[in-house]
Amino acid sequence: MMSLSAPRESELEKIERASRDELSALQLQRLKWSINHAFEHSPMYRNKFEQAGISPADLNTLEDLAAFPFTAKEDLRDHYPFKAFAKPMSEIVRVHASSGTTGKPTVVGYTRNDIDLWADLMARSLRAAGVHRGDIVHVSYGYGLFTGGLGAHYGAEKMGATVVPMSGGQSEKQIQLITDFKPDAIMVTPSYCLNLADEFENQGIDPRSTSLRVGLFGAEPWTNSMRQEIEDRFDMVALDLYGLSEVIGPGVAMECIETKDGPTLWEDHFYPEIINPETGQVVNDGEDGELVFTSLTKEASPIIRYRTRDLTRLLPGTARTMRRMDKITGRSDDMLIIRGVNVFPSQIEEQILSIDAFAPHYQLKLTRENNLDALTINVELKQDQFTASDIDRATQQLINNVKSYIGVTSTVEILPTGGVPRSQGKAQRVVDKRSL
Ligand code: DLL
Repeated sequence: MMSLSAPRESELEKIERASRDELSALQLQRLKWSINHAFEHSPMYRNKFEQAGISPADLNTLEDLAAFPFTAKEDLRDHYPFKAFAKPMSEIVRVHASSGTTGKPTVVGYTRNDIDLWADLMARSLRAAGVHRGDIVHVSYGYGLFTGGLGAHYGAEKMGATVVPMSGGQSEKQIQLITDFKPDAIMVTPSYCLNLADEFENQGIDPRSTSLRVGLFGAEPWTNSMRQEIEDRFDMVALDLYGLSEVIGPGVAMECIETKDGPTLWEDHFYPEIINPETGQVVNDGEDGELVFTSLTKEASPIIRYRTRDLTRLLPGTARTMRRMDKITGRSDDMLIIRGVNVFPSQIEEQILSIDAFAPHYQLKLTRENNLDALTINVELKQDQFTASDIDRATQQLINNVKSYIGVTSTVEILPTGGVPRSQGKAQRVVDKRSL
């Protein structure tokens, strides 16, 4: 049964309907608690605050938060594995960890209340996506230390949906279960979802014919062109789900189905700021910069002014009073500098997807030739019939567009179908061999 519709007013939580003033009052009250909690119970924060010459008593307004020191991934790594926790181990019921590309993972702890809060926020996110009690939710985010699978799972159960805990991988099995169980919603990374589309087609099934009506996509950057591609191929609505393990996992922000205009930040639990990544200064709503979060209610791993490295801006609320974030354009640490030009993989993604002949699978390779950076775009063709001159034209067009819109020279290498490595979770978009 198709039940894809925005939540009714009566299904929203009271705080989702609160006025901006009510929300700010709650935020301030919770922020005071959170800063104090971190200071009193986590030596990491106590040291950081003392070094910055600041104490919880200095926080009297929301704006006062700007005087508190930032927290970076390195701070959490330095306190590996459990030293940043603000609760004794006897109260920690679960840990998750995010791997990162190098070094030790960052570990996040959850008390029973933290797990309940997370499930509530994921349930809220699913409702915002138009999922209702009794719907079937297929979860293809990986289960395990990654927060995607279990985060989605607990939220879907809590809101009264039927969860299919498929996890990532085993694409043939995914296709079978989607075909047989007829889920209403899927939770998956955008890149893996496109692999599933291919797998459906390989099996002679049109992905548009599946029962899927809506997807909650996240865990990696994806452009609106990628959204369009997913929506067309599956005939479903694709919505943006944002989160990160250091803050809680998925469910920090969710795009509402009625407006589909960027994720609404669940501001009653996570206070967002945007800063200029170079100066650290807070910028105004609407201005671009790096997203910074302070948890307002988390117990085990409170997070104060955490620098996400994600680049976006804050926008006024639409479907809810809470503010929205714009689609993430990239991470400051994903930014490539190619012969002095700053390039985000998402910019190249847009150019690839704007050309009809190319499949949405790509990887960027960076090498050094004669002391100069060289960019190769590895991409595949759609599984249609193309003539040699169609392919030449598409290749030339991509090279030209990347040069004129982004400002870098590139080589395009067309790989056979399956030649670009497929992800079962987060796609690896860049292989940088310049320092080798
Ligand atoms: O990726 C949590 C998550 C799981 C979010 C499932 C959504 C769905 P981490 O592994 O810690 O946690 O990675 C967090 O992934 O800082 C962003 O750079 C990126 N990211 C997450 N969601 C989005 C999104 C999970 N919707 C990092 N759009 C974040 C763009 C996203 N980037």
